[in-house]
Amino acid sequence: MSEVISLEIDAPDDWHVHLRDDEMLEAVAPYTANAFRHALIMPNLVPPITSTALAAAYRNRILTAAGPDARTDFTPMMALYLNDDLDTADLLAGAADGIVFGAKFYPAGATTNSAAGGTSLLDYRATLEAMAGAGIPLLVHAESTDPDIDIFDREAVFIDQQMFPVIEQIPELRVTVEHISTRAGLEIVQDHPQVGGSITPHHLTCDRSDLLANGMRPDLYCKPVINSRDERIAIAAAATSGDPSFFYGTDSAPHPLGKKEAAKVAAGIFNAPYAIEVVAELFHEMGALDELEAFVSHHGVDHYGLERATTKVRLTRHVVDELEPAESMRTAGGTEVRIFGADAARRWTWEPVP
Ligand code: DOR
Ligand code: ZN
Repeated sequence: MSEVISLEIDAPDDWHVHLRDDEMLEAVAPYTANAFRHALIMPNLVPPITSTALAAAYRNRILTAAGPDARTDFTPMMALYLNDDLDTADLLAGAADGIVFGAKFYPAGATTNSAAGGTSLLDYRATLEAMAGAGIPLLVHAESTDPDIDIFDREAVFIDQQMFPVIEQIPELRVTVEHISTRAGLEIVQDHPQVGGSITPHHLTCDRSDLLANGMRPDLYCKPVINSRDERIAIAAAATSGDPSFFYGTDSAPHPLGKKEAAKVAAGIFNAPYAIEVVAELFHEMGALDELEAFVSHHGVDHYGLERATTKVRLTRHVVDELEPAESMRTAGGTEVRIFGADAARRWTWEPVP
C-alpha cells in the first residue's frame, strides 16, 4: 500500500532558465526565486545580453521581480550571449567582478531568440581560450542548424562538428552541454571530465510520441526537440545514476499562449512552477529518490566550483491526487502562459526547512 513519502534535500539549483523581461519577467521570476538557490539566467533577450553592463542591469531587474517570497539566498547567475558583439575584455572584467558567470553560445537560427547567435564555435577561439584561462564556463546550445540534417539528429551532428574540436583544442575550457536530448549529448559528457550536462524536466519525462502521437502538443514543443523513447530512457538513467557530470537545468521558457497555439509554434516550455515536483515524481517512479539531492542540489554546484547549500527543502509525496495545481498562469496584463507538469504537482508539495 502506498504511503506518504517525505524527504529533505539541500536547497536545489536551476542551471538553465529563461526569465524574459518586463511583464513576463515579473510574472515568472517568483516561481524560480522561491524554489531555487542558484538560477543560471539565459541571455537570449531581444536584443541579447552581450555585455557586463547589460547583465548587471538585467540582474537587478530579476532581483526586483523575484518578489517577497524569494529565497533569501536566491542568486541569479548571469551569462553573456557569445556573438560578434561580445568583447572579451569586458567578459573577463565582468567575471572578475562577480557579475558574469559564463558565456552562452547559440547557433544562429537554432531556437527562440537565437538570430543574433554565431555560426561556428571556433570562430570565437580567442575568447574561448581567454575563458579557459580565467575559469569561465562555456554553455552550449548544441544543435546543428544545417537544413540537410534531420531535426532528431541535430544534437549529435553539432557535437561531432563543433564540440569535439573545441574540447580537443581547448581542453582546459569547462563546458556544459545544455538541455541534453540524446545519447550523443550524454556520451560526450561521460567521456570528458571537463564537460558537464544539464538535463530538463521535459526531456526526462516526455518523448516524441507524447509530442506527436495523440494530437500534436504545441505545449511540448521545445528546442532541442524532444527525441525518441530510447533517448529519454537513457537521459533518465543518466540523471538518476549518481554520475556527478549531470545536473538539473529546467530550461523553463515561457511563451504567451498565442505564440504556442499558432500556425508556427514557438519553441519553449514553461515548467518553473512545478520543476521540483516533476523531477521528484520521475525519481520516485524510477526508485531513485535517494539520488534526487545529488542531481538537483550537488552536481551543479560541484561542477561549477561553488559551495553546497546549507539550507534544506522538505518534499512530500501525498497518497492520493489531492491537490489541484493550476495549469496556466497570467501576467499582470492578462497574457496566459501554459504550465508544464501539473500531473506531478497533484502529488508533491515542498517547503523550505526553517
Ligand atoms: O525551447 C527552447 N526555448 N529552447 C531554447 O533553447 C530557447 C528557449 C526559449 O528561449 O524560448
Ligand atoms: Zn534554454
